Amino acid sequence: MKRFEGRVAIVTGAAQGIGRAIAERLASEGATVAVVDVNAMGATKAAKVIGGKAFAVGCDIGDPDAVAKLHRKVAKTAGKLDVQVNAAAIVPFVPWDALTFDEWRRVMRVNLDGLYLMCRAGSDLMRKNGYGRIVNICSNSIFAGTPNMAHYVASKGGVLTFSRALATELGAHRITVNCVAPGLTDTEGVQKTKHKDAFGFVEMLQAIKGKGTPADIVPAVAFLASEEARWVTGQTLVADAGMVRW
Ligand SMILES: NC(=O)c1ccc[n+]([C@@H]2O[C@H](COP(=O)([O-])OP(=O)(O)OC[C@H]3O[C@@H](n4cnc5c(N)ncnc54)[C@H](O)[C@@H]3O)[C@@H](O)[C@H]2O)c1
Repeated sequence: MKRFEGRVAIVTGAAQGIGRAIAERLASEGATVAVVDVNAMGATKAAKVIGGKAFAVGCDIGDPDAVAKLHRKVAKTAGKLDVQVNAAAIVPFVPWDALTFDEWRRVMRVNLDGLYLMCRAGSDLMRKNGYGRIVNICSNSIFAGTPNMAHYVASKGGVLTFSRALATELGAHRITVNCVAPGLTDTEGVQKTKHKDAFGFVEMLQAIKGKGTPADIVPAVAFLASEEARWVTGQTLVADAGMVRW
């Protein structure tokens, strides 16, 4: 399938994990992909492996100037923007008793401020062509109330509700805004924290048994990012093997 031939996409958090797998899929289906990450070296490596028309951009999505620069670069290099997948986030493991205001702000700066900055600049660019697909990566932790990440759970609740409201704002411009909410997924980020010890417990709650991988999240994102999803907006698709049902 080549659903993204002639399309230009930005994928944030694309140096590794879920973001990287999404960037690979969009590129393999024909998109020109801006592989974006605060880890500039990681983004460069990923873009090289993806090959084709992929190009890397080092960008801290919490920095307004960096986000503006990123969108100028995409407009200059690729001429337009059709798809934006916002996967970059901080995924912390911090028990409530250790949760300081500085740590709260560190997560909000990226997970919510960064999402606002990306959607602001991205939708402004998409409106020029009257077409767009924004897919924001949420988390099933907002339904489960997952422990040791209260600030993250709060930020991802904001991702869902912001996406819903943004869908309303952008519908007139033929831009859709949807979320994909993964369950616990085996990524480099998860392997670095104690969340990696939760796979057994999470599997017990899943309807379908097994360990979630980035490849299990990609198809839901690719559908919502595609042209054929034109009648779907303001929605959240949970991809977690049926751990939560809402
Ligand atoms: N892995 C899971 O279990 C899981 C579950 C639910 C939701 N999610 C969500 O999926 C997405 C990807 O998760 P993952 O596990 O692949 O994460 P990860 O930690 O493996 O990768 C995240 C990437 O985002 C980048 N990033 C962090 N801050 C950034 C910033 N300020 N600007 C630009 N890039 C930045 C990191 O450098 C990293 O490459 C996140 O939105 C996460 O909240 C993950």
